[in-house]
Amino acid sequence: MSIDWPVLRAAASTAADRAYAPYSGLRVGAAALTSDGRIIAGSNVENASYGLTLCAECGLVSALHGAGAATPPPPATPTDPPKLVAVSIVAGDGAPLLPCGRCRQLLFEAGGAVLLVDTAQGPVELDRLLPAAFSGTDLASRRESR
Ligand code: THU
Repeated sequence: MSIDWPVLRAAASTAADRAYAPYSGLRVGAAALTSDGRIIAGSNVENASYGLTLCAECGLVSALHGAGAATPPPPATPTDPPKLVAVSIVAGDGAPLLPCGRCRQLLFEAGGAVLLVDTAQGPVELDRLLPAAFSGTDLASRRESR
């Protein structure tokens, strides 16, 4: 699947323009290409109760699942849920912003270790930003039955 980074960055910038960030003054937009070929986006949304702030990546991951998978052309049928393939996160100035730790974990579950994340130095795999990540596999193998 080819990744049009300029298109992703433009979509992330548009999302940053739509952010609601009156408290920090840092508008953030995230846009991603999904495995079923969609471009989705999210913006940060702040709250007077500061701790309730939603990062742009939260809106992005919600959009991934909330809109459902794209209907594939016949005869294919959807099997696995859609994933993120490549993501651009920018601030209001249009330049790349590295995701916070919590959002790295969110992105990991939505795109895996090979998710491509745009940085000021170019795209890198998420594994570089979140090495040795905790995942659902760890959870399944380590949980104790009660
Ligand atoms: N923010 C994001 O939206 N994503 C990140 O990965 C880092 C931080 C937002 C949250 C808050 O609205 C503002 O940036 C300042 O932390």
